[in-house]
Amino acid sequence: MRFICKYMTTLFFILIIALLAECVKEIKPTMNIEEKVFGKTADGIPANLYILTNSNGMEVKITNYGGIVVSISVPDKNGKFYDVVLGYDTLEEYTRDNPYFGCIVGRYANRIAKGAFMLNGVEYTLAQNNNDNHLHGGIKGFDKVVWNAEIVRRDEEVGVKLTYLSVDGEEGYPGNLNVTVIYTLTDSDELKIDYMATTDRDTVVNLTNHSYFNLAGAGLGDVLGHEMMINADRFTPINANLIPTGELRSVEGTPLDFTRPETIGSRIDADDEQIKFGGGYDHNWVLNKSGEELSLAARVSDPATGRCMMVYTTEPGIQFYSGNFLDGSSRGKKGSVYHKRYAFCLETQHFPDSPNKPEFPSVVLKPAETYKQTTIYRFSVK
Ligand code: GLA
Repeated sequence: MRFICKYMTTLFFILIIALLAECVKEIKPTMNIEEKVFGKTADGIPANLYILTNSNGMEVKITNYGGIVVSISVPDKNGKFYDVVLGYDTLEEYTRDNPYFGCIVGRYANRIAKGAFMLNGVEYTLAQNNNDNHLHGGIKGFDKVVWNAEIVRRDEEVGVKLTYLSVDGEEGYPGNLNVTVIYTLTDSDELKIDYMATTDRDTVVNLTNHSYFNLAGAGLGDVLGHEMMINADRFTPINANLIPTGELRSVEGTPLDFTRPETIGSRIDADDEQIKFGGGYDHNWVLNKSGEELSLAARVSDPATGRCMMVYTTEPGIQFYSGNFLDGSSRGKKGSVYHKRYAFCLETQHFPDSPNKPEFPSVVLKPAETYKQTTIYRFSVK
């Protein structure tokens, strides 16, 4: 009798544990997407905020104003979640004076020398909005327009599909350009960005995302202690105006060698001409790859929190910008102040000033073609 009693009690406890385990499984978050009103632009155009969550609790907020990634919340080695991208709390602040926090950059990301280029024998002139250069698509680039948005749900994935028609002549570029950008959050803690574009006239296209990352937490300090690996043996050296000279130079023996992990801060103030021109790191690296395959471009980790980010892309280049122009002048989320080098950007792209550099991979898009690029930011802990 006593044996049966003991047996029944053990069985009872096993049953309770099994039931509890089921409940925990039940309350584990599942993939979800929520749509909220974010506000209105100065012209009265409404913009939404899309809140994407996966079953590991990772959360990404995206607005269709500028296709901006507003926040990315990921855990550290102790499971503590924190937002790892710089930005603002309100739409109004994004529309005021945003140094490209989180946005989609286009029609041409990065610089075009003197704001001019030739295509099929015709010279196109663009805004010189960065000294005498054209930067990030001009006065009102893709970062400052409201995109059409549609929610996308697939197995193990949630996303937002953004579309925008950039009309012929907009910001000086030729051709009506139909652009689609799909942001997807996967259950493998990846933020995937698929870009597509078609045109009705020959034009130039170079799209990227301009998120400012800080794996220790946005606003909590600088990124000088982060370890960076860039899968590139060469970079495109720049002149004093940050325009590539056209050369593809080896990184070997220079402060731009990140073929093996190095902290961002160890050589950022080196007595080196390229570092001086960039005011730190603000260069394009030529990724080691054979073609347009999706391949590892960079890996960054923060030893203190254990947060790690891998970047994969189909693009030939990546601009590593170490937040040199951040000067603490604008207040970010929750009142935080973003000082110099409080973030890094890894902008996957074609090389800067390609429209004026026939030796660089072409950025020309023709009516019969489709521009395509995929970039993945994958988060993990070490
Ligand atoms: C890019 C450029 C930088 C700077 C930032 C925006 O990354 O390369 O020089 O203009 O955008 O502040």
